[in-house]
Amino acid sequence: MNAFTYFYPVTTYFGEGAARKHLPDELGKYGRNVMLAYGGGSVKRVGIFEEIKGILEEAGKAVTEFGGIMPNPTYAKVQEGAALAREKNIDLIIALGGGSVIDACKIISAQALLDEDIWDFEYAKGLRPVKFIPMGAVVTAFGTGAEQNNGAVITHEDQKLKSALWGAYHSFAVLDPGYTMTMPFGQVMSGAFDSLSHCMETYLGTPRQDNLSDEINEAVMRNIIKNIRRTLADPQDRSARSELIWAAAMAENGILKIGKVTDFQCHMIEHQLGAYTDCNHGRGLAVLHPVLYRHIYKEDTARFARMAEAVWGISPRGRTEDELALAGIEALSDFIKEAGLPVTLGEMGIGTDTDLRAVAESTVITKGCCKKLTAEEIFEILQECL
Ligand code: NZQ
Ligand code: ZN
Repeated sequence: MNAFTYFYPVTTYFGEGAARKHLPDELGKYGRNVMLAYGGGSVKRVGIFEEIKGILEEAGKAVTEFGGIMPNPTYAKVQEGAALAREKNIDLIIALGGGSVIDACKIISAQALLDEDIWDFEYAKGLRPVKFIPMGAVVTAFGTGAEQNNGAVITHEDQKLKSALWGAYHSFAVLDPGYTMTMPFGQVMSGAFDSLSHCMETYLGTPRQDNLSDEINEAVMRNIIKNIRRTLADPQDRSARSELIWAAAMAENGILKIGKVTDFQCHMIEHQLGAYTDCNHGRGLAVLHPVLYRHIYKEDTARFARMAEAVWGISPRGRTEDELALAGIEALSDFIKEAGLPVTLGEMGIGTDTDLRAVAESTVITKGCCKKLTAEEIFEILQECL
């Protein structure tokens, strides 16, 4: 195992009714001015917004609403939020939503206290922000685990990049399964698949020989697969939903990454596909994963074979290592279909007119992937996905 530092600053309040139970005490730690950030309005339609706003007002907070954060949040929207946070002297930001709202808030929190453009600060100067407006997240769409880490994925429309920026950790996160029960079913599957993708991309990073992080990861992956199946059988199964929400958090709270350099090459391709098409994150990953893995598995057949056996339960008996590895990738591909997720970009409305060459050429090449891909290979992979 590689040397590591493990640091985990997020207090997680998990369970039905967690907001009403824990927020009043938590809110006592922060000043009066609270920004309540949200997305396109679903939280207003289903009543979660009013509940959280009510808890804030009962605690004597002055609430500034900041809505309209879109899926795949843009840098322009982040700047709008930062300007509002400065204008209103915000003491605490509460992200009420899924990964998009949560990510936008991480950067709003940093940009509001930084006198220069945070994109240039991080990418041109290679610096990371150190001052943040405190934040909390109330998760209404699970899957990304974004409330657990300090990375944010933001679309810079002018630069045609969907890239990571480093922002604030949330001081606290509320994970109430009940708040996610109104998610559209397609988003439930896409979010849960995103969690599985995070696990796979961590598992396939280095080192790939036996280690505790990966053994825990195998259990998390099996749990996600099992609970996706339970959710397919009964979309309102709250027990399955609870498991999926915690599995999403486990995939991103750093525990599975301890001592590892992660892969995340599939994510890098999907993010750039998102920069060019604004596609749904989990659905993009579903299309890309099997195609990518068929391209790279021969670089570490043993690892893919182990995943086939330990995660998909495929017997090695009567199979060569290569056959076992491929059987695991086919099991993944079949599972994606079983979950009703797309298997081609065409199913996502992404056609041949998309500049896949530009997507490939702007994709970040990761260190942890078992094969260091070229832009040409990424282009081939994307074309195979059409
Ligand atoms: O915008 P509203 O109206 O709220 O609707 C949202 C949105 O359309 C809806 N929704 C959320 N809660 C709901 C609900 N609908 C009904 N009832 C509820 N309770 O769900 C839709 C999707 O929301 P979004 O936040 O975009 O989804 P997700 O959580 O999948 O987040 C995706 C974003 O996170 C980034 C992705 O790239 C993408 O930009 N990621 C962030 C990561 C991180 N910071 O760690 C890791 C991931 O790999 C990912 O890249
Ligand atoms: Zn993801």
